[in-house]
Amino acid sequence: MKLFLTGGKGMLGKTLQRHLKAHELFVADLPEVDIAELGGVEQAVSAFKPDVVIHAAAMTQVDACETDTDKAFRVNALGSACVARAAERHGARMIAISTDYVFDGTLDRPYHEFDEPAPRTVYGASKLAGELAVRMHCPDHTIIRTAWLYGEGGPSFVHTMLRLGAQPGAPLKVVNDQTGNPTSADAVASLIGHLIENPIPGVVHGTCEGDATWFQFTQAVFKFAGLKRGIEPCATAEFPRPAPRPANSRLEKRVLRLAGLPPMPHWEAELEKFIATTQRSL
Ligand SMILES: NC(=O)c1ccc[n+]([C@@H]2O[C@H](COP(=O)([O-])OP(=O)(O)OC[C@H]3O[C@@H](n4cnc5c(N)ncnc54)[C@H](OP(=O)(O)O)[C@@H]3O)[C@@H](O)[C@H]2O)c1
Repeated sequence: MKLFLTGGKGMLGKTLQRHLKAHELFVADLPEVDIAELGGVEQAVSAFKPDVVIHAAAMTQVDACETDTDKAFRVNALGSACVARAAERHGARMIAISTDYVFDGTLDRPYHEFDEPAPRTVYGASKLAGELAVRMHCPDHTIIRTAWLYGEGGPSFVHTMLRLGAQPGAPLKVVNDQTGNPTSADAVASLIGHLIENPIPGVVHGTCEGDATWFQFTQAVFKFAGLKRGIEPCATAEFPRPAPRPANSRLEKRVLRLAGLPPMPHWEAELEKFIATTQRSL
């Protein structure tokens, strides 16, 4: 198939390029294609004539979105609208990537696809506006919400912890009152590969199985990487950030289950594989 990939130079984009080699791929990213400029996006899409547009471009710096609100909405909302409109106009299906940040994180169970979004951050609000734009402008779509992502090149929490864990020093304090699904870009790329051939319409949650706090995630990173630096659990209140983090980021994969798909891979198995590969390449 012919696939048009936005955000192709990003963390998920790089992993997707590796996974989708069997297809004909057009990689769109800055500076060649700015997704928020409709004319340029339409021109690139109409010249390539893709079967599927995979939309992974975004402003992903959650704290920076709080101060640069215009840029967040320009890229995540207007940009998604432009990509969706170009896909629809040229008869392509769309697979767009979204986030757990569309939820406020106050529920005491994992969020499923039919829960009402209620973002508490500019990043979450702009990504939700992007979801709505995709729904409106490209009816033939799948929106995949993922979370706690790490993949080749980073930056990600795993990359930060591998770096800090290798430095000598006092025990690292790591937040232990936020829970989510650590997820490899490989697992999301495999899901996207499946959905290219077997579309599921609407919103699909796509995170690895199992959950952890950031502290437990760090414990696993250190275990698989053989790092000996100490770590101590702490509360979110000890690390105030411009954008409030959801206490509960866990996503239930209800739609994948209802569609008869097997569970996503477990986060610990994915992390162990990723760290082994990353260490081999160092
Ligand atoms: N990382 C996570 O933990 C996480 C969690 C949940 C959901 N997601 C979602 O997953 C998707 C991929 O995330 P990622 O971690 O791979 O992000 P990333 O590494 O930040 O990659 C995003 C890419 O989009 C590009 N981009 C930004 N503005 C653009 C514009 N106006 N026009 C064209 N391209 C533009 C970026 O270029 P520059 O680098 O030059 O700005 C970058 O190459 C995003 O939709 C994100 O919201 C990520």
